[in-house]
Amino acid sequence: MLTIINTADGNPTLYSEEFTSHYHSMHGSVAESNYIFIEQNLAYYVLQHQPAIIHIFELGFGTGLNAYLAAEFASQHKISIVYHTIELYPVPLDIIEKLVFNIFDIKLYKSLHAAPWETETIITPTFTLHKHEGNFLNYSLPNYYHLFFMDAFGPVQQPEMWEPAMLQKIYDSLLPSGIMTTFSARGNFRRYLQTLGFTVERLPGPKGKRHITRAVK
Ligand SMILES: C[S@@+](CC[C@H](N)C(=O)[O-])C[C@H]1O[C@@H](n2cnc3c(N)ncnc32)[C@H](O)[C@@H]1O
Repeated sequence: MLTIINTADGNPTLYSEEFTSHYHSMHGSVAESNYIFIEQNLAYYVLQHQPAIIHIFELGFGTGLNAYLAAEFASQHKISIVYHTIELYPVPLDIIEKLVFNIFDIKLYKSLHAAPWETETIITPTFTLHKHEGNFLNYSLPNYYHLFFMDAFGPVQQPEMWEPAMLQKIYDSLLPSGIMTTFSARGNFRRYLQTLGFTVERLPGPKGKRHITRAVK
């Protein structure tokens, strides 16, 4: 069962009883997503590489908040983003309709959810979305991504997503210089990323979180 909860930045998140976990930080859902996936990943990559097109893979589409923020970034910065995402438990549309994010473009947010699954949909002139309903654990990832948004549930609630085989899959999916960010900064997780060949940074977290991880291939 999913419950809508308000977070400290005035935006909602979901609580999953099955995973005994919130989808975002209670200190602010938009603030957290923006910091971990946009500022410390997408914007950081763009600043360094000035690409014309970026391929992103997100693990866990959920509320679509990360996809929304990436789409907004794409139009603000006039960069083409092709955004692939996987979700095993799509959030029912009646719950999505009750999520009232304090965001700039509600029409854009709704269009991400209205887009059909299993096909590429042009959402805006700079943002193309492909949503796949499936299980990341047995999903064969292509190997052309610039960025990976690792947004599964945490290592306590969902340890199988943080196993070496899954981290290897993430590494293999990225192009050289590709970046993965995530909210977890556990020591054994970071050390394993290093053994795979990532350059790993432990960055200060958003409000309420001490550290996050950025790994560069
Ligand atoms: C922490 S939530 C984040 C969701 C999303 N990024 C957001 O901002 O709303 C984790 C997401 O991973 C999804 N998930 C869990 N296990 C999965 C699996 N094995 N394969 C694909 N998605 C999965 C959950 O259903 C949930 O939507």
